[in-house]
Amino acid sequence: MRNVLVTGGAGFIGSHLVARLLAEGQWRVTVVDDFNDFYDPALKRRNVSAHLGREDFALHEADIRDRAALGELFAGAEFDVIIHLAARAGVRAAMDYEASGYEVINLGGSRTVSLSELIALLEGELGRKAVIDRRPTQPGDVPRTYADVSKARRLLGYDPRTPIEEGVRRFVQWFSSDGGR
Ligand SMILES: NC(=O)c1ccc[n+]([C@@H]2O[C@H](COP(=O)([O-])OP(=O)(O)OC[C@H]3O[C@@H](n4cnc5c(N)ncnc54)[C@H](O)[C@@H]3O)[C@@H](O)[C@H]2O)c1
Repeated sequence: MRNVLVTGGAGFIGSHLVARLLAEGQWRVTVVDDFNDFYDPALKRRNVSAHLGREDFALHEADIRDRAALGELFAGAEFDVIIHLAARAGVRAAMDYEASGYEVINLGGSRTVSLSELIALLEGELGRKAVIDRRPTQPGDVPRTYADVSKARRLLGYDPRTPIEEGVRRFVQWFSSDGGR
């Protein structure tokens, strides 16, 4: 068994990763998450509730910027791998966020998708029209984004293969199922 620490492991991506690692049966998984209220923390608690009580799972409720709490965590265990997903996802939220000293690896798709295209895909999958309230450019908005994933490719062998259409379809399926409620 190898020890893995997943920061932000109760979040959207983290909790899927944790479920996958536990299903593989070769990992002792520790999650550190502060369950902040950036969105409903009850969703995050539900994401990890099924694992509580497992011998190969530990949950630490702490802010990763809290050096004392992290010191305790690292004193109690040695990790083979650390996967850092704790973040204020989204540019606007991140602008107000004081970061710690982790290395940053950019993950994303390599094709730019416009917001209108994304909304159209969601409308198609949900079978209903979006009510759009157009606003002026907001702080942090950029006219075009394009994720440079070369570092992730080099360090992690990252090679995203799911096209946006397929990802949105699967997301809507998940969101409309018990998993998303
Ligand atoms: N969701 C996407 O489509 C997407 C795409 C590309 C990259 N990312 C990146 O992946 C990462 C995870 O995204 P997500 O969608 O799972 O977001 P999320 O908000 O669902 O998960 C982040 C988790 O981190 C926790 N967290 C935040 N700050 C913390 C802190 N200081 N200490 C401890 N825990 C903290 C939150 O409580 C949350 O559970 C983010 O860095 C995000 O920018 C997400």
